[in-house]
Amino acid sequence: MDIHTTIAGFRAALQGAGRVAFVPTMGNLHEGHVTLMRQAKPLGDCLASSLFVNRLQFGPKEDFGTYPRTFAADCEKMAAVGVDHLFAPDEKEMYPAPQAYFVSPDAAQADILEGEFRPGFFRGVATVVMKLFSIVQPQVAVFGKKDYQQLMIIRNLVREFALPIAIVPGETVRAEDGLALSSRNGYLSAAERAEAPRLYRALEAVRQGVRAGERDLARLEQGAMAELRAHGWIPQYVAVRKQLDLQLPAAHDSGLVVLGAALLGSTRLIDNLEV
Ligand code: PAJ
Repeated sequence: MDIHTTIAGFRAALQGAGRVAFVPTMGNLHEGHVTLMRQAKPLGDCLASSLFVNRLQFGPKEDFGTYPRTFAADCEKMAAVGVDHLFAPDEKEMYPAPQAYFVSPDAAQADILEGEFRPGFFRGVATVVMKLFSIVQPQVAVFGKKDYQQLMIIRNLVREFALPIAIVPGETVRAEDGLALSSRNGYLSAAERAEAPRLYRALEAVRQGVRAGERDLARLEQGAMAELRAHGWIPQYVAVRKQLDLQLPAAHDSGLVVLGAALLGSTRLIDNLEV
């Protein structure tokens, strides 16, 4: 695996490399990331990944400073799964001056759900992904459904700016007890880790309710939030939405997804399940 820290070096190396499949990450890789890379590998002539903890998508009170940075271990995992080119810039290379141009998704998509609790998050994500797309120029990019709203926003970004990139979704990889793998799971104490799969189970209960024909979605959502609260969580939202645009479903809509976010101690966990 070749590791590139400059845009110029990365671009030069990809000259003539054929179709590029791309998996962007913020590092601290787990089996979720690795599965996306395995999925992306046969989709291009070469597999590129990026590792960059993007300050723009962290709020002032969020964990940018403490976000786990495990570069050597990440490189080993990427090399083992067949990444050909890793783009790992430092902050000066990505943002030599404070970024003055942004990609700001419409409020209807970016200020709901995650965006309501993480103002500016999707502006930061869309801006860095646009920049990474411009640097890497992939034909295919794989994004995880774990970050469902992020996946929707990237799809819309690509469509609205007519970028010639196929966005491929990857299924959420979970631990055996159902907890969705996340770099932030490393923040959990042993007791919290044992409690953490309750978020998945609460969303699963909502999914079962919807499947069983319960039409009072608010009742299901409130039930899941109450269950979490009863076990010491601070739920931020549990919401049944349309998969396509994450807007509120009408009475007989199908193609739904249950999304949730909650604080367990000081760790914020998110998850979702397609109905
Ligand atoms: P990061 O959180 O490192 O995630 C990188 C990719 O891995 C994303 O597409 C995410 O959805 C996916 N992923 C995370 N956990 C997963 C799991 N358990 N199963 C399957 N896929 C999973 O998402 C970001 O980084 C950043 O916002 C980024 C897109 C790189 C822009 O900075």
